[in-house]
Amino acid sequence: MVDVLLGLQWGDEGKGKIVDYFAPQYDIIARFQGGPNAGHTLYVKGEKIVLHQIPSGIFHENTTNLIGNGVVLDAVTLKKEYDKVAAFGVDGRKNLYISERTHLILPTHRALDKASELSKGNEKIGSTLKGIGPAYMDKTGRNGLRVGDLLDKNFTTQYIKLRLKHQRLLDSFGFNEDISEWEEEFFEAIEFMRTFKIVNGEYFINEKIREGKKVLAEGAQGSMLDVDFGTFPFVTSSNTISAGVCTGLGVAPQKIKEVIGVTKAYCTRVGSGPFPTELHDETGERLRKIGNEFGATTGRPRRCGWIDLVALDFACMVNGVTQLVMTKADVLDAFEELSACTSYGIDGVQQKMVPYQMTKLAIEPNYVQYKGWQTDITRITESDSLPAEMKTYIKFINEYLGVPVTYISNGPGRDQIIKA
Ligand code: GDP
Ligand code: IMO
Ligand code: MG
Repeated sequence: MVDVLLGLQWGDEGKGKIVDYFAPQYDIIARFQGGPNAGHTLYVKGEKIVLHQIPSGIFHENTTNLIGNGVVLDAVTLKKEYDKVAAFGVDGRKNLYISERTHLILPTHRALDKASELSKGNEKIGSTLKGIGPAYMDKTGRNGLRVGDLLDKNFTTQYIKLRLKHQRLLDSFGFNEDISEWEEEFFEAIEFMRTFKIVNGEYFINEKIREGKKVLAEGAQGSMLDVDFGTFPFVTSSNTISAGVCTGLGVAPQKIKEVIGVTKAYCTRVGSGPFPTELHDETGERLRKIGNEFGATTGRPRRCGWIDLVALDFACMVNGVTQLVMTKADVLDAFEELSACTSYGIDGVQQKMVPYQMTKLAIEPNYVQYKGWQTDITRITESDSLPAEMKTYIKFINEYLGVPVTYISNGPGRDQIIKA
């Protein structure tokens, strides 16, 4: 049996914290897409740690973690993460398995990401520059190298062949930065990666499922960054939605049970692209400040705005969300009034659908206003004790989306979560 936990907005919904919370209920936590563009924040023994590729179940002794074939993996970042995790007294290799079909991010992929972004000027995606797009291009273009290739004695020859191809592309971009240091790091890191448990991920996970083990598939990024259904071209290069679990792990759709959608009580986005409810005023600034909205991977300030129920409804539809977790509800504690976007005005017409090409449209969000609760909720442990105004806000969201909010996160701490 597989449950899925994923972000419903533009990423950074707090997935890491929630996976860490649910991990004891599962035998396996598996990443199925994305790569080091992700930054999942956890608090372990009161200390903060940001994971990029290692699944967020790593701090639970009895939990197995799997990096699935749908991920693009950077050996250098993996080594750094391993060291970070080790500082908490955990051997990151012990309970971690990597699928041999997982594609590798090469130093030239990072260079290509940078060159491509530079060439786009004002139209840049705002990529994390981790080489994600170029690595997935080599996967679908049938050129990439995979973790399983590390075990092949011809790996270096294969690498050099692909590097030459990349060099021609880099030349066409006029990119001439020296990446020899990156390459040195890379070869050191892949030596280290060879010491990890490299497995046939699809047999590994299906055998566990047959044994009755419970799997939680951990999404990265968010549904609005999905390469097919997000705000293209301002998206990432993988399928971030629940369908990605099937291709990213090799599990059949009927094995999937719950789809847990994580949403902030408001909305943020980092990088370029449309964001209908973005606030450019002091309210947006206030959300950023109270919510500490700065990227976990790049440190960039996140764009902030009100919750967008049109986009959330769309995300619930394409993912088949069965329950919602609302995070960062405490960030709204001090607000006198809250807004929730319930429709888009496009050319004077009101609609509740996410349009095909958000990028080229002027979207006017229509809001319903709610009275804020103006109460500190960070120490509340029971839903009965939540302020009445908050209950009203959540009830409205439940009804609009037709999906229940089952948990409310009221702080970054491990225990700051309330069963609704
Ligand atoms: P992810 O990528 O979805 O795992 O989310 P990030 O880790 O990038 O960003 C979420 C940020 O919000 C992190 O700094 C978390 O520590 C923090 N966070 C998570 N849940 C809550 C919450 O309920 N309240 C507050 N105030 N912060 C939270
Ligand atoms: P987590 O898992 C927020 C954004 C980037 C950029 C776009 C494409 O922490 O929620 P890419 O590097 O993938 O080519 O960048 O996607 N992006 C994220 N935004 N959270 C993430 O991951 C993101 N991963 C990528 O900012 O706009
Ligand atoms: Mg993040």
